[in-house]
Amino acid sequence: MAKYIMKKSNPLQGEVCISGAKNAVLPILAATLLSKEPCVIKDVPALKDVEIMSKLNEALGAIVEAEPEKNKVTVEAEKMNCPKAPYDLVTKMRASILVMGPLLARLGKAEIFLPGGCAIGDRPVELHFKGFKALGAEIFMDEEEGKVTAHADRLTGTDIYLDFPSVGATENIMMAAAMAEGITLIENAAQEPEIVDLANFLNKMGGKIKGAGTDCIKIEGVENLHGAEHNVIPDRIEAGTFMVAAAMTRGQVLIRNILPDHVRPIIAKLNECGVDVIMGEEGMIVSAVDKQLVSTDIKTLPYPGFPTDMQSIFMALLTTVQGTSAVIETVFENRYMHVPQLKRMGASIKTDDRCAIIEGKKELRGNKVIATDLRAGAAMVLAGLVAEGRTEVSEIYHIERGYEHFVEKLQGLGADITRMDP
Ligand code: UD1
Repeated sequence: MAKYIMKKSNPLQGEVCISGAKNAVLPILAATLLSKEPCVIKDVPALKDVEIMSKLNEALGAIVEAEPEKNKVTVEAEKMNCPKAPYDLVTKMRASILVMGPLLARLGKAEIFLPGGCAIGDRPVELHFKGFKALGAEIFMDEEEGKVTAHADRLTGTDIYLDFPSVGATENIMMAAAMAEGITLIENAAQEPEIVDLANFLNKMGGKIKGAGTDCIKIEGVENLHGAEHNVIPDRIEAGTFMVAAAMTRGQVLIRNILPDHVRPIIAKLNECGVDVIMGEEGMIVSAVDKQLVSTDIKTLPYPGFPTDMQSIFMALLTTVQGTSAVIETVFENRYMHVPQLKRMGASIKTDDRCAIIEGKKELRGNKVIATDLRAGAAMVLAGLVAEGRTEVSEIYHIERGYEHFVEKLQGLGADITRMDP
C-alpha cells in the first residue's frame, strides 16, 4: 500500500489553487442521468470518487467521456436503460446512493445496494427513502442482501419535511422531484453550497427550482430536462484544509479560487485562534507568521455552521496552540477516529461521547499513523508537517478519494512530503 512520508517542514509559503468541489461534482454527475442530451461538466477534480461515479454512470448505460487532465467530464445518458447500480461500485462510495433519484425519475425504478464510503459512524439513508415514498415510490428493502428496490410510475410532487437537514437526502429528493408531476417543497432542507450548485445545474437543464441555499426548496417538476454545461464550485473543504495548513505551520499562503462566503465559519475560528485572514484581489491570504496562536471551541453543525468535514483538520491545529479547546461533533456520532492517531503523535486529547478536550501546545512527534477516513487522513498529514522527526501515513487511498494533487500542492508550498509507492 502507498504511503505519505512527512518530515517537520518550514512554515508553508506561496500560493495554491483550489480544485472543484468533490461534494458538488458527485451529485451533479448523478444529475446528468436526468437528461437524454449530453452534459459537459468542467472544473471536475481528478479524484477516485469521481472515477467511481463515472463508472457507475457507465454501468447504468450512460456514455461517459472523462478528461481528467482537462478537469472535464461529458455524460450522455440517452440510452440509459439499466436501473441496477452494481454492488462493487456502490459499496466503494456512499455518494452512489445519489443515482437513485435520477433513476426513479428517468426509468421509474432503481435497484441499489446500501452504500459504503467513509467509516464515520452509522450513516443511515432512511431520509432519502422517506422522500421517495412521499413522492409516490414504493420501496422494498431486502435486509439480508442489503439491497433496496424502488418503483414508481410517475413521481408526484408533495411537501416533504426532513427530520434532519441531510445533504444527500436533499440532493436525491431534489433530483427526483425535478421531473415529478407538480410541485415539491422540501422543508428543513440542507443549505450547503453544494446543494445550490446542484440546483443551479438542474436549472440550467431546464429545471424549475427555487430556494436552494435556504431551508425550504421549491421544485416545480418538468417533463424533460435538456443537456447543459456547468462549472463546479471550488471545494470549500480543500480550501479550509490549506487555510489550516498555513496556520498550523505558522506560514503564509495565498489561496486562489476560494469563495469566502463558503468558508465563513473557518475564517471565524482561525481569527479566534489569532490567525490573520485577508481577502485580496487574487485570493485569500492566510497568515500566522510568528504568531502565538491560542485555543478556541468548535461545535460542528449543518451549513452555515462549522463543517463536520473540517473537525479533524481543525483539531490537529488545536493540538499546537496555547490553551485548552473543546470540540463538539453534532453531525456524525463516530467521528473521532483520528483522535487515537493524533495521540500516537503525542497530542493530549480526551473524548467523551461527542465531546473532545484538547490540551494544546504539546510538541507533536513523528510516528506511523493511519488515515482512518478522508478528512482524518488530511489531519494526520498536517500533523506530520509540524511533528518532530518522520511521520508515515498509511491507507492514503482515503485521502486520494477527496484531494486532487494533494502532495504536489503541499510540496509547492514548501512542505516536506513524499508519496511512497509499495
Ligand atoms: C455529505 C458529504 C459529507 C459530509 C456530510 C455532512 C457528500 C458526498 N458528502 O454526506 O462529506 O460530511 O454531508 O456535511 O456530499 N442521516 C440520517 N438519515 C439519512 C441521512 C442522513 O440520519 O437518511 C444523518 C447521518 O447519519 C448524519 C447526518 O444525517 O449523522 C448528516 O448526513 P448527511 O447530511 O446525509 O451527509 P451525506 O449526504 O452522507
